Amino acid sequence: MITVHFVSIANDGARHQTSVQTLPGHSLMDAASDAGIEGIAADCGGLLTCATCHVIVNEGWLEQLPPASTDEQAMLDFTAVPHNKNSRLSCQIQLTQALDGLTVALPATQY
Ligand code: FES
Repeated sequence: MITVHFVSIANDGARHQTSVQTLPGHSLMDAASDAGIEGIAADCGGLLTCATCHVIVNEGWLEQLPPASTDEQAMLDFTAVPHNKNSRLSCQIQLTQALDGLTVALPATQY
């Protein structure tokens, strides 16, 4: 099993972390959707056409991930919250055992 952590910041500044267990081979978006993580909309179901699965990867984990493809980089221009160097689309992150403990922040909105 792999455990991944989703962090959200409430309007009052409170930090809330939800930890999800999943199996290798699933995407990070699948893990979020299966667990009902509200901050991941994933409207296109992983077809890389919506950018509503935006996450911000915690420092220290970004270099553990394969680089974003050209298509993913292009879709990051369509995130609701401006993307930054740690932004990724969670449907494009395939989970492996090496990513056990991966921690990502959820943007304030996906729309
Ligand atoms: Fe649509 Fe990731 S789910 S781009």
